[in-house]
Amino acid sequence: MELIVDGRRLDGRGFDELRPIKIEAGILNRADGSCYLEMGGNKVVAAVYGPREVHPKHLEDPSKAIIRYRYSMASFSVEERKRPGPDRRSIEISKVSREALEPVIMKELFPRSSIDIFVEVLQADAGSRTACLNAASVALIDAGVPMKGIVTSVAVAKVEGFLVLDPMKDEDYYGEADVPFAFLIRNGKIESITLLQMDGRLTVDELKSALELAKRGAMKIYKLQRDAILKRYVGEEVIE
Ligand code: CDP
Repeated sequence: MELIVDGRRLDGRGFDELRPIKIEAGILNRADGSCYLEMGGNKVVAAVYGPREVHPKHLEDPSKAIIRYRYSMASFSVEERKRPGPDRRSIEISKVSREALEPVIMKELFPRSSIDIFVEVLQADAGSRTACLNAASVALIDAGVPMKGIVTSVAVAKVEGFLVLDPMKDEDYYGEADVPFAFLIRNGKIESITLLQMDGRLTVDELKSALELAKRGAMKIYKLQRDAILKRYVGEEVIE
């Protein structure tokens, strides 16, 4: 399958272009914080509950809040019906995503409590873990959970020898490598990497370039996350 035609990707994007992103904070009444996010063909909803009492009680930590993250795919979110319920893939994604968010949450402020993050994938189109993390970050802020910054996530793929930002399904599937990143952004600056996974093969130099490409993409997503939060609380579009 030809993925790059005349220096453009199948959906017309340049190599360093993100898919269209839409973010809306505060869409659920019963959650403490929530977010709906689209990233190309990914459509996800994040809901945050807490800080609240821990159930079951024996899981509570006297020194800090525990963080739980559940990534879950709707059975209709993918081409071939997905069996409902957790599977190996969603358990792994939930674990790495929780670890990507933990460093940013000020857990020590809430001993003996839990902060529960649920993310539902309604439609998947590669990079769903990155879309979910972006939504979860906004939902955490919407819930008023004290944070040291914000987590922003995007993947880079290698396709026909080129590094491309934010791969869609065909690029992920037929490409040579897929590298999702998440970054902790504090005071408008990328401070650290909180998630880095890779399948496929890259040279060391390509990995360095992939990181730079991902960082540029993450800064754009970060601005949209910020705008979504400001829009919710200031109540209008934010124009810089
Ligand atoms: O979504 P993400 O890239 O974070 O994770 P992945 O395991 O690399 O999956 C890539 C894509 O494969 C997903 O976004 C879905 O579009 C698709 N997929 C699927 O069609 N059926 C599944 N059971 C799992 C994933």
